[in-house]
Order: sequence, then structure tokens, then C-alpha cells
Amino acid sequence: MRRVFSGIQPTGNLHLGNYLGAIRNWVRMQDEAECLFCVVDLHAITVAQEPKGLRAGIREMTAALIAAGLDPDRCVLFNQSAVRVHAELAWVLMCTARMGWLNRMTQFKEKSGKDREGASVGLFTYPVLQAADILAYKATHVPVGEDQKQHLELARDIAAKFNNDFGVELFPLPEPVIEGPATRVMSLRDGSAKMSKSDPSDAARINLTDSADTIAQKIKRAKTDPEPLPSEAAGLAGRPEAANLVGLMAALSGQSVAQVLAERGGQGFGTFKPALAELMVATIAPITERFNALRHDATTLDAVLAAGAAKARAIAEPVLAEVHRAVGL
Ligand code: ADP
Ligand code: NA
Repeated sequence: MRRVFSGIQPTGNLHLGNYLGAIRNWVRMQDEAECLFCVVDLHAITVAQEPKGLRAGIREMTAALIAAGLDPDRCVLFNQSAVRVHAELAWVLMCTARMGWLNRMTQFKEKSGKDREGASVGLFTYPVLQAADILAYKATHVPVGEDQKQHLELARDIAAKFNNDFGVELFPLPEPVIEGPATRVMSLRDGSAKMSKSDPSDAARINLTDSADTIAQKIKRAKTDPEPLPSEAAGLAGRPEAANLVGLMAALSGQSVAQVLAERGGQGFGTFKPALAELMVATIAPITERFNALRHDATTLDAVLAAGAAKARAIAEPVLAEVHRAVGL
């Protein structure tokens, strides 16, 4: 049986990188497998959060996910802190994971920056909580963007070591699903940083709440080079900003990068950018409309999350009981 799990932090607006790298695949998978999608609020508090903002952010992310196409009748949609198994299983798995494994995680190095000693312990152990999120459901497939590849490998290592240490076949090894031409969408300001919710520059990302005018302006100002587009993918080497915009065009149009370049090779960005912005607006505008209709409906959103959490608990609690038995707790 295929069981899908993935999560997203409630720490800001859903952006185009989240959508094209992950959420769009979640929407598709709803009809192909048993799916659990989680607003990972426990991950959010690894860095400081203003409590009122966090509470509002959990609902807003839930609304955004539904607006993007998740259907609570066809997937289990819930928030992490409502299912205590995540935190409890994370403790057991922290005793399985090795310091050396976590020391190799590049995202901790990026997120903690220069002040490693001042980072929370939670930020360091975050990938173990992420492993618990997945393994609590014995998930077999995890659709994510490219940035999560290393964390997924860690989750597999933890699952394998747990099974081996206790002589059980308890956890399946979860497979990452990293699919499509936009698994690593880059910032519009700098082709070497990924597009992120936590980027302080709003102009660097396309939010799914941006208006058509804002999207057109952001794409117009996006960093590029002066050369026209090449007619083959090899011509994008050493041109990260151009490659990013072409990858976005491919993802939004359902074409391959080669097809986009076969059609548009020789175009300058003055022609290409407005066409790209138009396609973005066509994808994003209906999502924004659904989001705006739902975002302030706290009653509905809370009911969706409560129902999802009940379904999630029904799967995760027996798994935790099995883990406890295996360990001797
Ligand atoms: P962010 O880094 O923006 O806070 P999250 O950590 O909440 O986003 O990630 C949610 C999902 O979106 C993950 O599956 C992640 O791999 C994916 N994702 C995040 N940023 C990008 C990006 N720039 N390109 C493609 N996928 C991304
Ligand atoms: Na991320």
C-alpha cells in the first residue's frame, strides 16, 4: 500500500516554490494513494514565533492548502501539534539518530548562520522530528522539493537503524518523491538562493496571494542577464537566473525545458517575462480567489483541522504503541 506524508511550515505565505516543488504534487497524489498533509507548527517554533501570529498562520496555511487544491475529503489535513505522537516518537528517534548524522545536515548550517551556539536545540534536532512525522504513519512516499532530500535520507537512515537495533520490520523506508521541472525554485533576486518564505525580501518570491500587478512587477524586476534565451538546455549552463525563469515557464505550461527553449530560443527577456507573468497569473489567480473566500472562516478551518487530527491519531497511536513494545517501554 502507498501511504503519502508531507508537511509545510505555517510561517508565512505559500509561495510559487512551495506550490510547484511540492503542493502541486500533493494535489495530484490525493487520488493515487492514502495521503496525510500536515501543517508543521512544531517545526515553526524552532525559531522565535509571535504566538498570535503563529495561531493565525496555522489557519491561513490550512486555507491556502485547500485553495491550492487539497480536499479534506480526499486527504487527511491536520496540524502537527494536535497529534501528540509526533513529539513523543521524535524523542524515541532522537535516541536512535546519531550526533554525527545531524552534524552533517546542511539546512541547520544555513538556518543557524553564524550564530550556531545561539540556535535552539530544536533547530538542530528538527530533522529527527521530521523523521517522526513521516514514520508515525509508516509513510512510504514523501513528496517534497529538492531542499528536503538530505532530511529524507536521514529519515531512511533512522528507520533502518531502528528496525535493525530492535530486530523488527516496523518502519518501511520512506521514498522521496522529487518530481517536475521546478523542484528547486530560486529567488528572483539572486539565482543562487532558493525561493523561501523566510526570505526577508518579498520581491524575491511570488506569493500565491500576490495580485496580477504585483506578479507582473516582480517578474519584470527579476534579476536576469542581457543575453537572449538559448534554443537548447545546454545553453542555460552558467545562467542560473535564466534557467530559473525557463524552469518556471516549463512547470507552469506543462512543457519540458527543451520544449520551452525550442519554442522561445532567441527571445529576449523583454518578450519572455510578460509571457511568463501572464502564465503565472493564470495559475495563481484562482488559488488567490479561493484563499480569500476561506481565510477568515475560522470555524470551518478549525473543524477541518480537528477532523484531520482525529484521523491522523487513529493511524499514529497504534504505531507509537508498536514502537514502545519494540523498545521495551
Ligand atoms: P520554506 O522553505 O519556504 O519555509 P517549507 O520548509 O515549509 O518552505 O517547505 C514546504 C515544502 O515546499 C517542502 O516540500 C519544500 O521542499 C518545498 N519547497 C520549499 N521551498 C522550495 C523551493 N524554493 N522550490 C521548490 N520546493 C520548495
Ligand atoms: Na524548506
